[in-house]
Amino acid sequence: MTNEILKTIEEMDRQTFREDLIGWFENEMRDLPWRKDQDPYKVWVSEIMLQQTRVDTVIPYFTRFLDKFPTIEALATADEDKVLKAWEGLGYYSRVRNLQSAVKEVHEKYNGKVPDQPEAISSLKGVGPYTAGAILSIAYGKPEPAVDGNVMRVLSRILLIWEDIAKTSSRKTFESAVRSLISHENPSYFNQALMELGALICTPTSPSCLLCPVREHCQAFNTGMQNELPVKSKKKKQRSVEMVAVVLRNDKNQLLIRKRPETGLLANLWEFPNTEVGLEFRSEKEQFEDYFKEKYQVEATLDDMVGRIEHVFSHLIWNIHVFTGQLKGPIQESSKLKLVTLEEIEQYAFPVSHQKILKEVVGKI
Ligand code: ADE
Repeated sequence: MTNEILKTIEEMDRQTFREDLIGWFENEMRDLPWRKDQDPYKVWVSEIMLQQTRVDTVIPYFTRFLDKFPTIEALATADEDKVLKAWEGLGYYSRVRNLQSAVKEVHEKYNGKVPDQPEAISSLKGVGPYTAGAILSIAYGKPEPAVDGNVMRVLSRILLIWEDIAKTSSRKTFESAVRSLISHENPSYFNQALMELGALICTPTSPSCLLCPVREHCQAFNTGMQNELPVKSKKKKQRSVEMVAVVLRNDKNQLLIRKRPETGLLANLWEFPNTEVGLEFRSEKEQFEDYFKEKYQVEATLDDMVGRIEHVFSHLIWNIHVFTGQLKGPIQESSKLKLVTLEEIEQYAFPVSHQKILKEVVGKI
């Protein structure tokens, strides 16, 4: 933390700041399902879901997930396929794979009790400084920072911090600031109030400063700089790949699906056979047919293209050309390659792009 930031904090009326912030939160907090109690497991699940995902999207997933896996033990002992199915559509699936493996560790090593010490909790898979701080403060009332992008935006304005919040190194500055500002009487509400302020008032564009409970403490408001902060550099553009994906049917009207690899993008989710294609002398149809024959030693023939789907990931864009086709011979099924009916397919967890592929072809097959 720079001397300038330190000086700003020292010159603030910190006690009044805390009271204004927490008082506002007590009156205005949204009624959210994870705020009904302080069960560390529920706080944990909600904070993992809320990373990179909006509150409105998370609410129904959170409720369903807790119906299915209400306790540490239930999640620790659940079938991974069922857990992925409950997460289907939320994206960033490594979050839930890490969550389940961390929950298994808590079940086995800590007798099912989420640790309340920073070192122990931070060593769990998928529990970074933000999640550790959120659980420690919200569930255990410990004065630990929980700094995510929203909190950085709010504090950059209040304290006039000009560091680039897109840089990972900046989080440390904001954590130090929270350590010197946080309420020791109510760390839970203090952290949640910063999040809530970021969501409801101190929004990325056109913040509602006139409604802000802490605008008297805000250096950006005082100097008219609220629209210049935070400083956030643009991330580089995603790489685009062209692909062909095919809904292949056999003579019994079953569809061929396969499980993705255990690691990497969309690990362990199910998908329709697909391959990346390029500009070359073979048509994309031929490129897929050659790929398929080589990989499975069975022939597949494609019909005409039935649609295109674009799916944007944080670092990648898939341009999927969707085809239907026929499987020309028997294929050896396994735990990672299955022939399923349209009814059975419901039980498998698919990435959103492949759910769209299925939607695209239903009615055409
Ligand atoms: N965003 C991240 N954590 C949150 C929480 N606990 N409540 C509301 N929004 C959040």
